[in-house]
Amino acid sequence: MRQFSFCLMLIVLVLYGCGSTANQNQSSAIEVSLKSTFKNDFQMGTALNVSQFQEKDPSVTALIVREFNAITPENVMKSAVIHPEANRYDFTQADQFVAFGEKYKMDMYGHTLIWHSQLSPFAQKMQSKDSLMRFMEDHIQTVAGRYAGKIKGWDVVNEALNEDGTLRKSVFLDILGEGYIETAFRLAQKADPKAELYYNDYNIEQKAKRKGAIELLKKLKKSGVRIDGVGIQGHWSLNGPPVEEIEQSIIEYANMGLKVMLTELDITTLPNPWDLKGAEISQNFEGSPYMNPYPTGLPDSMQMKLTARYEALFKVFIKHQDKISRVTFWGVHDGHSWLNGWPIKGRTNYPLFFDRQLKPKPVYYKVMALKK
Ligand code: XIL
Repeated sequence: MRQFSFCLMLIVLVLYGCGSTANQNQSSAIEVSLKSTFKNDFQMGTALNVSQFQEKDPSVTALIVREFNAITPENVMKSAVIHPEANRYDFTQADQFVAFGEKYKMDMYGHTLIWHSQLSPFAQKMQSKDSLMRFMEDHIQTVAGRYAGKIKGWDVVNEALNEDGTLRKSVFLDILGEGYIETAFRLAQKADPKAELYYNDYNIEQKAKRKGAIELLKKLKKSGVRIDGVGIQGHWSLNGPPVEEIEQSIIEYANMGLKVMLTELDITTLPNPWDLKGAEISQNFEGSPYMNPYPTGLPDSMQMKLTARYEALFKVFIKHQDKISRVTFWGVHDGHSWLNGWPIKGRTNYPLFFDRQLKPKPVYYKVMALKK
């Protein structure tokens, strides 16, 4: 019996020893982080889902707090979630998001006030100018007003443009005409006079859409509303768009006196259905091994491509750090990225800096090494 307890003690001691070395390693790794590496360049942000700001997994919380200094709610401030019925708001989750940001002293960015997608269903069905205008007034005043002083900046209008640079058809454009964008900015400024106000969209680094965005932004400025910045979403792929286009866009938007932000950065490592010649996007690719080639892990060759692509991008971001105020990833780690479910459900994608075990990927170290 005595021998047995001695053995047990030995095992405990050895295990304790291993544990404390691991802890030491962990604490020395803490000194290096995305937010500390880029602190003189731009904020490093991430989008949070519900389980993340509810702190369901302490190791995920630790990662978020260690690496990032800015957060965006991935879904919970969108109108369909926060304002599900005409006379009913549901602030439960948005309040929890804000409480998380306050607890860990992170800058919070609101996403998004006016968007055609994930729009409250009752607003989607509106048919008169009066009712839609009342929706906008009530929605923006109530949501931006509630978080005034807490949210640093709002994506006031999201994705108002088509790929050719014209205004996207939506219930807002149909019923209120193009002035709805200016109205949204006026209402946001009134609801939270201190928040920064942004226009946010994807592909606005591509020529035709960029031209349309610049026209829109010029009009807004001319109208006298305040607009502080432009968010380039940055849902990109390994092959495109070219960094030259991205760089040119950063320069052109900054030349308009706007802050530039990368607001939803991720790089898909999987085939896009619209890259397939003649492919029907409506075609069902779910369950197709061809469209989900790496279900058990990303091959080294692809890992290297991902690293090289992000390095090329961050070289440009660092070069133009005077113009860029924030770089936000759309998600914390690969396991939770929306790109596992979009545009095809049930895939295994690898678009971010942290893997499914929360471990930094090679890209994390390479991108930070650009600052050495
Ligand atoms: C996505 C979320 O990540 C998903 O969870 C949700 O199902 C759909 O919306 N552009 C945006 C974001 O502005 O709000 C979108 O987020 C991704 C594309």
